[in-house]
Amino acid sequence: MPNAFDADKLMAAARAAREHSYSPYSAFAVGAALLCEDGTVVTGCNVENASYSLTVCAEEAAVAIAVSQGRRRFTAIAIAGPPEGATPPCGGCRQILAEFAPSLAVLYSSGAESHETTSLETLLPAQFELP
Ligand code: THU
Repeated sequence: MPNAFDADKLMAAARAAREHSYSPYSAFAVGAALLCEDGTVVTGCNVENASYSLTVCAEEAAVAIAVSQGRRRFTAIAIAGPPEGATPPCGGCRQILAEFAPSLAVLYSSGAESHETTSLETLLPAQFELP
């Protein structure tokens, strides 16, 4: 069982991080808030580039920042996208998250004030690992 956490607070942190999104090309702003096992919340946002494929996803940014701080154990991630529609993590981000937290709790926005709760095992079954 993952540690108990305040889902609304984590989603609020993701929505706040979304405000920093640099997404002039897609106009699709995303924020992420990663809850570390030590209780720290590390946030990230998507950072786009004129060379489109160099874009960094919000979840990827949050993981890179957390790992660079020496944090590799995560309890949950909240992801906030545009208020219209849902923003589950892309396939690449699922793989990045699985590297550190195969059974992470995943919350993603499904509206301006609503979110879905699932797990990485559900979003990415049969996870790849090296033998
Ligand atoms: N994006 C994320 O930040 N996370 C995801 O899981 C899906 C996509 C960003 C990348 C790009 O800047 C924009 O959303 C549109 O794809």
